[in-house]
Amino acid sequence: MSDQYDFIMGLRALRDYKPEPLSNEDLGAILEAGRWTGSSKNRQSWTFVAITDPERIQGLAEHGDFTQPVRDSVATIVLVQEADGNMFDIGRAAQNMMLAAKAIGVASCPITLHRTEDANEFLGVPDGAQARYAIALGYPTDEAKPRQFGGRKKAAQVVKLNHY
Ligand SMILES: Cc1cc2nc3c(=O)[nH]c(=O)nc-3n(C[C@H](O)[C@H](O)[C@H](O)COP(=O)(O)O)c2cc1C
Repeated sequence: MSDQYDFIMGLRALRDYKPEPLSNEDLGAILEAGRWTGSSKNRQSWTFVAITDPERIQGLAEHGDFTQPVRDSVATIVLVQEADGNMFDIGRAAQNMMLAAKAIGVASCPITLHRTEDANEFLGVPDGAQARYAIALGYPTDEAKPRQFGGRKKAAQVVKLNHY
């Protein structure tokens, strides 16, 4: 259809990263993609906490159930939803950051911090804010490939016309 379309369709969660740290330029570019994401009423009710300190990365990983990608990452960005924010906006920012990462050769994986209260405390976020989701990042290893969890539901199952 177009290279851009194929690029978007080709975004996969990748979980195998080289130990090489992200350059400041690459990490900054990914954060800029988040910062420029559109949000409801342009509130931008989010804070992106970039964690690059290896000990802090391991500490963050304690707060979710499937956080091996965080443990293996060289940087993880937590998308903190501020008290007046919403999850739709956080999801948009996450997707934009993942697409930007892919565009500059950085692999990423969305992460759930299931024990959100603990993650909030770990990060020191203010009352009412939520550190529920994060993105693990790193340059992909040569062997990095997406995990197959069964592809996707059929279009007829998830797309309806004019009525549910
Ligand atoms: C909201 C959300 C939370 C996710 N949380 C995790 C997670 O905690 N750990 C993980 O390894 N993958 C996580 N994933 C990645 C999904 O497992 C992955 O996107 C899905 O299996 C489809 O694979 P694909 O992105 O490679 O197409 C999450 C994805 C989303 C959208």
